[in-house]
Amino acid sequence: MVIGIRKWKLEDKTALAENLNNVKILDNLRDGLPFPYTEKDAEDFIRAMLSADEDKTFAFAVTADDKIIGSIGIFRCGNIHYRTAELGYYIGEPYWGNGYTTEAVRQICSYVFDNTDIIRIFAEPFESNAASCRVLEKAGFACEGVLRCNAFKNGKLENMKMYALIKDA
Ligand SMILES: CC(C)(COP(=O)(O)OP(=O)(O)OC[C@H]1O[C@@H](n2cnc3c(N)ncnc32)[C@H](O)[C@@H]1OP(=O)(O)O)[C@@H](O)C(=O)NCCC(=O)NCCS
Repeated sequence: MVIGIRKWKLEDKTALAENLNNVKILDNLRDGLPFPYTEKDAEDFIRAMLSADEDKTFAFAVTADDKIIGSIGIFRCGNIHYRTAELGYYIGEPYWGNGYTTEAVRQICSYVFDNTDIIRIFAEPFESNAASCRVLEKAGFACEGVLRCNAFKNGKLENMKMYALIKDA
């Protein structure tokens, strides 16, 4: 299986909705995404990504051969943090556990470091999200600490971990 990242196309909406319409995925993301997650929601997301500022939003579909299996993005921060950017991702449940996300993270970080002036990419998984923490470690991110009680998700306070990758470090 060849894992890649590429720009979104509107026709990806069906595959995107199939992958993201899953509580096990939504439970590990920030709030705000609808459930059920419909093709219309997917189309709105793709349109937003295609019209976003190209210097601030680096959003890609994750592909396995030619199939859409997930979504990955790096989003530039503002003000004094403008050379810092946040990474987020998910993969459809049937594809978990094959190293695909780790490969996609490596690819998007190389793309952003090679094509922008961003020098720090960070991610903040829930401490309980062992799979995501492992992905970041395998992709070379360093854990910089635990952000205690940093989120209130599904009625519970959650610790989060701060992972970062520094260009050329
Ligand atoms: C997190 C997620 C992206 C991982 O995708 P993936 O393609 O399965 O990731 P990879 O296969 O590259 O790596 C997963 C690693 O976590 C490990 N892992 C999985 N579940 C685990 C668990 N419960 N405890 C410990 N390690 C675990 C795997 O064994 C693997 O490590 P290994 O290669 O050393 O064996 C996927 O599970 C997902 O989409 N989850 C929901 C959304 C989400 O959490 N997004 C990130 C928000 S910060």
